[in-house]
Amino acid sequence: MKIGIIKELRPGEKRVAVTPQVAKDFIARGFEVVAEHHAGLDSHFQDKDYEEAGVKITDKASVFREADIIVKVNPPAEDDLPYFREGQIFIGLLFPYNNTELIKQMAEKKITAFAMELIPRISRAQNMDVLSSQSNLAGYKAVIIGADALEKIFPLMMTAAGTIRPARVLIYGVGVAGLQAIATAKRLGAVVEATDIRPETKEEAESLGAKFLQVEADTKDVSEGGYAKEASEEFLRKQRELVDNSLFQADLVITTALVMGRKAPRLITEEQIKQMKHGAVIVDMAVEQGGNVELSQPDKIIEKHGVKIIGKTNLPSLLAVNASELYAKNMFNFVTFLVKDGQLNIDKEDEIIEGTLVIENGNILKS
Ligand code: NAI
Repeated sequence: MKIGIIKELRPGEKRVAVTPQVAKDFIARGFEVVAEHHAGLDSHFQDKDYEEAGVKITDKASVFREADIIVKVNPPAEDDLPYFREGQIFIGLLFPYNNTELIKQMAEKKITAFAMELIPRISRAQNMDVLSSQSNLAGYKAVIIGADALEKIFPLMMTAAGTIRPARVLIYGVGVAGLQAIATAKRLGAVVEATDIRPETKEEAESLGAKFLQVEADTKDVSEGGYAKEASEEFLRKQRELVDNSLFQADLVITTALVMGRKAPRLITEEQIKQMKHGAVIVDMAVEQGGNVELSQPDKIIEKHGVKIIGKTNLPSLLAVNASELYAKNMFNFVTFLVKDGQLNIDKEDEIIEGTLVIENGNILKS
């Protein structure tokens, strides 16, 4: 089986689906690997690194002509579509429910496509879980961006000129991104508080040194099978009552709240922003899903009522080296699970395949 790596065309995207090291791992497993010129350059992986790993470097048309499996980070770009061949396999992020037209165009090419973001969050698939690997890095970067925008330092500092009190950081949503945000803010020396709708996250937040702000609620009303349910108006009101005090004292707020398949819950309103400290910073990580914060906008910094509201999409791309390394590892684990003895093995009874298979030989299964 031949794997083809092509260059990402999404504006601002610096990641690549397979790194030279992972290409080497594929080759050691009996795969061949071919890559488009400069596919990894924005992640600082040069063509010569791929060549040293045993990868053939060529133009995009040849990659599509030769490869059995096309691997990508983002969904295919408009410019990629004409190159697909019948029977080819595509693996990458796809978001089929938001990309209905694209899925139709891909299906017309009679290809088979798997969506990496639909890998179920089960322990057997943990090493293929791109949402976790990328969110973890994004949680780190959100704190770094917030710290940079804040005109204060994080740690307690005792100097001859006086003592500087540590910054106060508040984190909404203790999922993968939120946990890494807690750990990062703690390491930088801030006093960290966190809140989540799922009560079971209390222990994890506390184990990383955060104070957990727990809204009293019946577990069955707020979570199901380990996932958050959509919060009721009543819950959101109680949350505001409990968390507002911390919000109004916070220097940096990171919001990461999301319920699978829903628009992000609105957790901070303009009215609340008005009462925050002058000079405070908010980083809204859920901005692409509609935002947790009333004034946030994708890839903009809004300054209002003395508060900077940062809505940044594609944070993992800002850490393209590590993000590509982890994405590529997830890809390796997925592909080697999918391909047995040089043959694609589509066992639809398997939860991982059933979850990720979007198009099978031109038949749309999810859209
Ligand atoms: P996750 O699903 O692991 O965590 C989301 C957390 O929000 C869960 O713990 C959930 O219980 C909690 N939550 C849901 N409703 C809530 C509410 N009303 N109040 C408090 N907590 C609530 O998701 P993950 O992977 O940590 O991602 C977090 C967010 O960051 C998502 O919106 C994701 O799309 C976004 N993200 C953004 C990136 C960027 O570049 N801006 C990169 C990666 C992730």
